Amino acid sequence: MLNTEYISALGVSDAEYNEIIAKAAEIIKSGSVVALPTETVYGLFADATSTEAVAKIFEAKGRPQDNPLIVHIADFQDIYKLSDEVPKEAEELAKKFWPGPFTMIVKSNGRVSKSVSAGLSTIAVRMPDSKIALDVIRASKLPLAAPSANISGFPSPTSAEHVRDDMTGRIEMIIDGGECRYGVESTVLSLTGDVPRILRPGAVTADAIKAVVGAVEIDESVLKPVGEGVVVSSPGMKYRHYSPKAQVIVLRGSLNSFVEYVERHQMEGDFALCFDGEEDLLPIRAVSFGAEKDSLMQAQRLYSALRQLDELGAERVFARCPSKEGVGLAVCNRLFRAAGFNVIDLK
Ligand code: TXA
Ligand code: MG
Repeated sequence: MLNTEYISALGVSDAEYNEIIAKAAEIIKSGSVVALPTETVYGLFADATSTEAVAKIFEAKGRPQDNPLIVHIADFQDIYKLSDEVPKEAEELAKKFWPGPFTMIVKSNGRVSKSVSAGLSTIAVRMPDSKIALDVIRASKLPLAAPSANISGFPSPTSAEHVRDDMTGRIEMIIDGGECRYGVESTVLSLTGDVPRILRPGAVTADAIKAVVGAVEIDESVLKPVGEGVVVSSPGMKYRHYSPKAQVIVLRGSLNSFVEYVERHQMEGDFALCFDGEEDLLPIRAVSFGAEKDSLMQAQRLYSALRQLDELGAERVFARCPSKEGVGLAVCNRLFRAAGFNVIDLK
């Protein structure tokens, strides 16, 4: 068990802030792991050039060894230290979306630890739009590997309290920088094939990417389970993910048909995950995760709502089905995975 230091960077003086950043950078340079906020979710940051440091990330999360990590940089030029084959589209996309909730996969030049890419010949790179993250990357003068700061398989943390629940005793330091702005992980775009391909949807939408590069494909696994034995482009897609302890069932259809279904099937321990304002119309206790028409809000609140359902002791959760338009695709993707793709179409 490590002694995890918990520091708030909220409302501190400039001098105190600089001290926090310097301390985080020192811990990272010494080969250990620090949790800090990005604009998407909290991440576990460590030196991507050190095999031992990267191993500590995998250990803290209990992450399968074949699931690669994203490398975080603070200046676009640093991508050339990680890849010798950066396509022209990458520059255009970075100009538009970096810093921001956007990750690009390019050919790796093998300069970071092999364990970061989990044996793949490619590397995922992102420049986060969070002052704390950018300041720590710059202060450490290293490319930093960082997955979401949750125990593997559970919902990603969107607040420092979530990280504290999962990571106390497992890492050296947690920096509290408040709630994350987007609440779902970055869009992951592969640039290693003929056409750019979205492997994981996020706040940067397919349409926004298309407007820059002309064409984009969305990987099948985004809304469908990966079949047994299929080789996947992104190893993270084959695992059960983002799941609370409760069993989640997504019911696709109108509010009326949702209420009817729940009335017919309800048992003790059932909860609903619903849109704002629907709580009182449902026959079971409910947690809401945003307005029905507001995908950005749903993204921001989804993981927190899933964690809350566990805290309330939910055994089974019936979830309303979000729209898959725009950022909604990311919300659907995470919720469907949390449900292990248990999605029922209501009549
Ligand atoms: O918003 C985010 O991206 C957050 C913050 C902390 O930056 N990070 C994050 O990392 O979500 P993680 O490890 O939880 O998810 C990374 C995803 C996984 O699905 C992984 O399989 C995929 O990116 N990935 C990483 N490197 C890859 C590669 N070379 N090829 C294909 N997929 C890759
Ligand atoms: Mg993750």
